[in-house]
Amino acid sequence: MSDAESPGDVPPTDDHLMDKVVNLCKRRGFVFPSAEIYGGFRSTYDYGPVGVLMLRNVKDAWWRSMVQLRTDVVGLDAAILGPPAVWEASGHLANFTDPLVDCRQCKARHRADHLDDPDTCPTCGAVGTLTEARSFNLMFKTHAGPVEDAGAVAYLRPETAQGMFINFANVLTTSRKRPPFGIAQIGKSFRNEITPGNFVFRTREFEQMEMEFFVPPDEAGTWYEYWCAERYQWYVDHGIPAEKLRMRPHDADELSHYSSGTSDVEFAFPWGWGELEGIANRGDYDLRQHAEHSGERLEYFDQASGSRYVPHVIEPAAGATRAMMAFLIAAYDTEEVRGEERTVLRLHHRIAPYTVAVLPLSKKEELVGPAQQVLGALQPHWMCDYDETQAIGRRYRRQDELGTPYCVTIDFDTLDDAAVTVRERDSMAQDRVPIEGLVAYLSDRLV
Ligand code: GAP
Repeated sequence: MSDAESPGDVPPTDDHLMDKVVNLCKRRGFVFPSAEIYGGFRSTYDYGPVGVLMLRNVKDAWWRSMVQLRTDVVGLDAAILGPPAVWEASGHLANFTDPLVDCRQCKARHRADHLDDPDTCPTCGAVGTLTEARSFNLMFKTHAGPVEDAGAVAYLRPETAQGMFINFANVLTTSRKRPPFGIAQIGKSFRNEITPGNFVFRTREFEQMEMEFFVPPDEAGTWYEYWCAERYQWYVDHGIPAEKLRMRPHDADELSHYSSGTSDVEFAFPWGWGELEGIANRGDYDLRQHAEHSGERLEYFDQASGSRYVPHVIEPAAGATRAMMAFLIAAYDTEEVRGEERTVLRLHHRIAPYTVAVLPLSKKEELVGPAQQVLGALQPHWMCDYDETQAIGRRYRRQDELGTPYCVTIDFDTLDDAAVTVRERDSMAQDRVPIEGLVAYLSDRLV
């Protein structure tokens, strides 16, 4: 497993930052502990009304840059359930394991590769009580159909990647693409993690955003460098400061069984550097494995040169839920405004749950009518919140905590001048803007 947190010089953060972000997530409807009314369920989380918007925006931003703005990547949405043959061929049945130790004294279970001291139990502190490490397969096993026998075994996918490999020939013949080209997919993956934790950083059910880029073998090195640079820049472009990110090439003993080179994009989480995404040069391992196990030809015939080859694969593999957490942590800020503390999420406008909030100054019908009209004009363009309760100052603070880039206020002057007040989240600067020009005004600022 490659998502270990690593030490090193992490930029300093507020000691309580994590608690504050988790608290905000619960209080404002980003993330709730799953099955909470039954006491919660083992590191699973539900994304609330605001969280679902933000998570969707993270995925949309990835899809936009990986698929929409390119001509050499197509999309896919493959099944989550798969037969053992897929995982046999991919190597997951044999290799997708973590080394596990148990403490004989307190019965706690730990990942052997996460121990600071291999002789000491981190839970009870006892020395010499840990068992030998055993391999533990991380895949969730189930049965398809009514009979629970060996022939009905199925697995929940532990990564989205294999869907792209087993559909390589289907995509090649239907999409009119040829190497270099990629197949991208976003979706849920499941791993029976031994030590889930740190909020949504490591959970048993999570969402991945992966792309398999198939290239002529002699171009693999160049494309690996290209995707490392692109993927690092994606996080910067979406608001994570460069000083909170680093690129970490894996040491030879860390590489997965298939990889000839992997680099992680890491983020400075409050507890240390942690992986957001791995970019791996997987060679021709996956296509060869699936060709051998399925008996299908998984290669490319280049008509121009008359040559046939198995493409090599460069894989940028990111976590959507983990990226969302990094965006939240990086955006969290507090400052003093006129003697009061303001909490603000300085999220990029493509990532923020709501782009605009429409706020009539009062609940009076004469303002609510025009406010609804303004809302109706904005909704086709952006995700909008509408709020007519409480004093306007409190409503601004609420939108600051949600990270909403613009608030549009309809006041009594609106009835005379057909204009509204637009307040920008970070500077809190206000502009008077004619309703007629409001969509154009916001469009200019939301590029
Ligand atoms: N196909 C390669 C692959 O799956 P990975 O490094 O195991 O590589 C890719 O996973 C990304 O998926 C990680 O960088 C991380 O962002 C996310 N991820 C992996 N396991 C996770 C977990 N248990 N909880 C949340 N996100 C996870």
